[in-house]
This record gives sequence, structure tokens and C-alpha cells, in this order.
Amino acid sequence: MAGRRCVTDPLARFKDAQRQGWAHFAPLADNTTPEAARLVKHAGVRPGDRVLDVACGTGVVAITAARLGARVTGLDITPELIAHARENAGIADVEVEWHEGDVEELPFGDAAFDVVLSQFGHMFAPRPDVAAAEMLRVLKPGGTIAFSTWPPELVLGRLFALGGRYMPPPPAGVMPPTGWGDPNIVRERLGSAVKDLVFDRATMRVPALSPQHSRRISERTAGPLVKLVEFLAATDPARLAAFRREYDAIVADYFEDNTVRQDYLLTRATKI
Ligand SMILES: C[S@@+](CC[C@H](N)C(=O)[O-])C[C@H]1O[C@@H](n2cnc3c(N)ncnc32)[C@H](O)[C@@H]1O
Repeated sequence: MAGRRCVTDPLARFKDAQRQGWAHFAPLADNTTPEAARLVKHAGVRPGDRVLDVACGTGVVAITAARLGARVTGLDITPELIAHARENAGIADVEVEWHEGDVEELPFGDAAFDVVLSQFGHMFAPRPDVAAAEMLRVLKPGGTIAFSTWPPELVLGRLFALGGRYMPPPPAGVMPPTGWGDPNIVRERLGSAVKDLVFDRATMRVPALSPQHSRRISERTAGPLVKLVEFLAATDPARLAAFRREYDAIVADYFEDNTVRQDYLLTRATKI
């Protein structure tokens, strides 16, 4: 694994921290499960397609595609989540090939897949241009790349920006995840490698009794937030309290009928 070869490399250390944060994500997959069906439909996955689910987490997209009859591979940087994914595939009684790995260094040959998908996943790779190049490299010409991402101006984008104000700056070259939620930036990043670029919007509604309940579950499960709370609790509890107040105020703007409304961007394109 690139992230483990050299822990003195700032980028490798950054990815190690990400991996530790995401290790607790499994309970949140209840929320991403319905959205997985939305992405698989958006991508037009068909029986027999060779599909790669990048940053697959507990396998919700991969297993949805496999249940349609696709031949699926799932990859994620966090071994604990690959273990959950394996278990989920067993329960659903589908075959999926699972890999622990990094989207910035995919362990697959050129043009190995008909469809490359990522749900709220590849957006967390620190170098978007490297992630995009890798996802496009393993996709065959005429194949489909499709992903779901959080826009910068909506709830999660605002929460990531808030987190950025409370954390030390990331290593040089690390880009914020929500660039992938801006259609203009997506167009630029996929560039002349694709045609027929299409965007759509969808809404994920996350049940919560209050904004504070929503924060408490996310503090234990959402990778970047797990690490941020760990850092502030150890260094400056007063700043942690201030962060939590600001966090709750943002979530309150999207709190509807005991759910947090999380609109997101869907992208689909064909590799030239
Ligand atoms: C919000 S979770 C989404 C998981 C899953 N796709 C879903 O929809 O439930 C983000 C995922 O990205 C993975 N991830 C983050 N950085 C990654 C990288 N560089 N390469 C592969 N996976 C990565 C995390 O381990 C985590 O599983």
C-alpha cells in the first residue's frame, strides 16, 4: 500500500489518518444504501458489465451492481470496511472481488472495466487529478464513469469548510473533497478524456432527532469528523465546543421533519 510504505511522507501520513477515521464508517452505510441504487441506475449498469466501485466502503454500490448481474470489483483504502463489504456480499449471496487499495494507485490494468463508479468516495483522495487519471486509465474507451459527490455550497460542503477552519492545514497539494461537487470543476478534471458529460441532482435524507443527534453520530463515524474531534479534544476543548456550536447551526439550516436533507451531485460521462 502506498500509504504504508513511507510514514514520513506527509501525503502518506495524511492517508493513514484518513484510513483511521474511516474505519468507523459502517453504521453510516444505512444512509448511503438507497443512494447506491440511484447511482447504479444513473450509470446504466447492465448484467455482465465489468464494474469497479472505487472507495467502496462497506460495498453498497458494488453489491447493488452485482445483484443486477454485473461482474464487480470493489476497492477501498480502509481494511475494516473491506471486511464489512466481504460480509455484506456473503449475506446478499453475490460474488464480488474485493481489494484494499488506493484510488490514486489502482492495482488494475488499462481498460479493465466497462463502468467505473464511486459514491461519496474518490472525492476524498487528496490529489483529484491523480484519482481522475487512474479511474479513466482502468476504464475502457466507450465505458462509463459515474459518481456521486457533495457540492461545496450545501450542507456537507459547508461542514467540510468549517472543519478546515479548525484543523491545521493539510500537506501541500491536498485539495478539498468538494471540488468534485462543482460541475465546472468536474468538467475541467475529466476534460477531453470524456464525452457526453451529464449531471443530475438527488437528495439523501438522514434521520436524526435533532442537529445535535446528527452531529453525535457523525462524530463517531464520518472519517474527517472523527479525526477533527480527536484533534480538538486533545488540543483545545474550548475550540471543540465552538466548533460544535457552528456545526449544529449549519445542520439546522437543512433539518426537515427529523431528517437532515443532503442534496448531492450525480455525474456521468463516456470515456473517449
Ligand atoms: C463516505 S465513505 C463512502 C463509502 C461508500 N462508497 C458508500 O457510499 O457507502 C468514503 C470512503 O472513501 C474511502 N477512501 C478515502 N480515501 C480513499 C482512497 N484514497 N482510496 C480508496 N478509498 C478511499 C474511505 O475508506 C471510505 O470508505
